Amino acid sequence: MEALFHRTALGTELAARLLRPGVLDEQLRSGLFLSGLRRTGKTTFLRNDLIPALEEAGAVVIYVDLWSDPTANPAGLVNRAVVKALKELQTPKSKIRQKLKKIGKADVAAFGFSFALTIDHVGTDQGPTLAEALTEVVDHAKADVVLIVDEVQHAITTEDGERMLLALKSARDAINPRPNTPGHFIFVGTGSHRAHVRELSTRRNQAFTGATSQDYPVLGRDYVEYLLRRLSEEAIKNPLPSVDAVIEAFETLGHRPEQLLHALSLLNNQLPEGGEPDSYLTVIAATLRSSAVDDELRKVEQVGPIGLAIFRFVASANGDTKGVYGSEAQSEYDHALGRRVRPEEIQQAVNELLASNIIMRSGHGVYGITDQFLKTVWRERNNVPPETFS
Ligand SMILES: Nc1ncnc2c1ncn2[C@@H]1O[C@H](COP(=O)(O)OP(=O)(O)O)[C@@H](O)[C@H]1O
Ligand SMILES: [Mg+2]
Repeated sequence: MEALFHRTALGTELAARLLRPGVLDEQLRSGLFLSGLRRTGKTTFLRNDLIPALEEAGAVVIYVDLWSDPTANPAGLVNRAVVKALKELQTPKSKIRQKLKKIGKADVAAFGFSFALTIDHVGTDQGPTLAEALTEVVDHAKADVVLIVDEVQHAITTEDGERMLLALKSARDAINPRPNTPGHFIFVGTGSHRAHVRELSTRRNQAFTGATSQDYPVLGRDYVEYLLRRLSEEAIKNPLPSVDAVIEAFETLGHRPEQLLHALSLLNNQLPEGGEPDSYLTVIAATLRSSAVDDELRKVEQVGPIGLAIFRFVASANGDTKGVYGSEAQSEYDHALGRRVRPEEIQQAVNELLASNIIMRSGHGVYGITDQFLKTVWRERNNVPPETFS
């Protein structure tokens, strides 16, 4: 049995809703945002289930992960992904062309773009806009074009990124309202930070106001049952825990497959003769939940005591905070270090925390903890009450 648990039905269903929306799903054409915690299988689902389902249904899919290179400019990454897709479309023997040919839609003989000469500069001053380029793709391919941007919240951290989102919105507005459009432009964004992803579709000045924002459906019972089936086939020496106990452990571990596998392997190694697997698993999961964030906390420690003080301030805030450089924060830093902390030291530590992706900027002077799970567990450990969301 394959290690990967396919979520075929979920992929097919979502693809159908995106490409052939019913009355109630019509606004998915304005954009769909899925948010869910890190390491819960979003990228895996996109790559293995959603994209194949979309392509199966005849769409041209362009995928880009803004975390593939956290230091790269998000707009540049999106432009590059679009250029790559355009070039594949121009290549007669490419996979994408073969697929389009099979469904008999594309104008297969002639697939020249009017901007062929400046194709490398799509989305920049020297080339066509994203709207122009994507319009031609829809018209030539006579297909829907789905652009999937993974970890899209990264785009709101820079002005370039914001401009890119606006450019995508204009592409949508240029293509979709045409009465006889041969296809639609559909934007899907996913992200690991719910509040930030939500903001993309709710904040007034954001490109995708009115788009739909949903929680990524986490893996559940069917995944756990699949795992236990695999384990039982492997003739593990110890008795296996019950489905319900594994589901509970999976929840404790924030629905993260890697953490669950880790817990199950610890259980297999540590369960004493005649031990009761369910109760052992519960204890292991609780311990792992807490230690799962140790690697991240070590990165904070490496930044030094000022980094720790800043982390403490940001992690204690309800939601994101503007006060990192404010007087309240300053007195906490001073208190933690037992001396006056200088602004340039704070600046330096903030930059290091940003560079290691521990905190992220979500607007001018606004910071939050990147990983919500880290924030939640840190608060549990430090007796800070859970966040309340209004
Ligand atoms: N459907 C699945 N079946 C098996 N393993 C999975 C599945 N989805 C995710 N995983 C595992 O969980 C880990 C995190 O998945 P990933 O897709 O990178 O999460 P995210 O994009 O949400 O951060 C990876 O190691 C991946 O192999
Ligand atoms: Mg991912």
